[in-house]
Amino acid sequence: TFRQLVFSGVQPTGNLHLGNYLGAIRKFVALQESHDCIYCVVDLHSITAQLVHEDLAGQTRSITAAFLAAGIDPKKHIVFNQARVPQHAELAWIFNCVARIGWMNRMTQFKDKAGKDRENASLGLLAYPSLMAADILVYRATHVPVGEDQKQHLELTRDIAQKFNNDFSHRIAELGLGVEMQMGDEVVNGFFPITEPLIGGAATRVMSLRDGSKKMSKSDPSDLSRINLTDDADTISKKIKKAKTDPEALPGEVDGLLGRPEADNLVGIYAGLADTTREAVLKEFGGQQFSTFKPALADLAVEKLAPIAAEMRRLMADPAHIDAVLKDGGERAGAIAEQTMYSVRDIIGL
Ligand code: ADP
Ligand code: NA
Repeated sequence: TFRQLVFSGVQPTGNLHLGNYLGAIRKFVALQESHDCIYCVVDLHSITAQLVHEDLAGQTRSITAAFLAAGIDPKKHIVFNQARVPQHAELAWIFNCVARIGWMNRMTQFKDKAGKDRENASLGLLAYPSLMAADILVYRATHVPVGEDQKQHLELTRDIAQKFNNDFSHRIAELGLGVEMQMGDEVVNGFFPITEPLIGGAATRVMSLRDGSKKMSKSDPSDLSRINLTDDADTISKKIKKAKTDPEALPGEVDGLLGRPEADNLVGIYAGLADTTREAVLKEFGGQQFSTFKPALADLAVEKLAPIAAEMRRLMADPAHIDAVLKDGGERAGAIAEQTMYSVRDIIGL
């Protein structure tokens, strides 16, 4: 069977927010205890939606600083940026030839990001999930912690791995490169693992503070819609105070959150930050008004986020150190990626 290995990535675009933290980065930190982990700043992904960025290198450092400030250990694990390891792009090209156009056209993120003028979206935006599959599979990673929004892309990664394993099954066997893995009740054999998404906990989909029907996002034009990882205590409190709610008190049971997306979101955020469940939060706050709950939530958010923001600022003052971390991580990641690509070229006959 495959050695258990965790991979995930974050784009260096815009401000990291509470959704990124609770949905992804906090899980990255927790998984370090039990797994070998590779965490990547996916700079090649960030040019799919918008080619020209004012300070892409600075954004890449800032995400790296957030990884380190949140508690990722770049010595025990690997932290690097995607463009440093060209094997990602090489495998992505091969996966472009494995995946079908119809698979890409079905991706809801592509439809959202391309908008109405789909013919004018970059080809890279359409092929984004191929590159994401390559990011994961170039390390033959078995587990990927992500937020709920990435579920469909992870399914595509599994489809690509499966099609590659099937299309080249004879060649993989001939070269003795197959690995056995459990798939449900079956044992199958392949070169690439069928990766498992790790989506779980109270805050896998954090919503905008201004609109309970939209996810909290880096690209939302309203800064009041999200809590940025670098917001100071006053800003965090102000944004939570202004968060959209309804006039009812909090319910005593989780069922009472049905049809109340804003209340559900704030309770979910509290549960995520406190590392507990919605049930537990409602046990404490059920029957209380938002005028009581919001200040408690703001205090908790400040308590959890302020130390990360302070550490990010400290790290960002020394860009040479961050660059050294990325260089070292890139070298170690590149060695693994090249081993995979050596076999992939052999399997295909390149
Ligand atoms: P964004 O979606 O904000 O542009 P990325 O695409 O770089 O950010 O996503 C980085 C990680 O954060 C992914 O694992 C993604 O699933 C997660 N994530 C993004 N937004 C949210 C959210 N609102 N709630 C939970 N997780 C999220
Ligand atoms: Na995303």
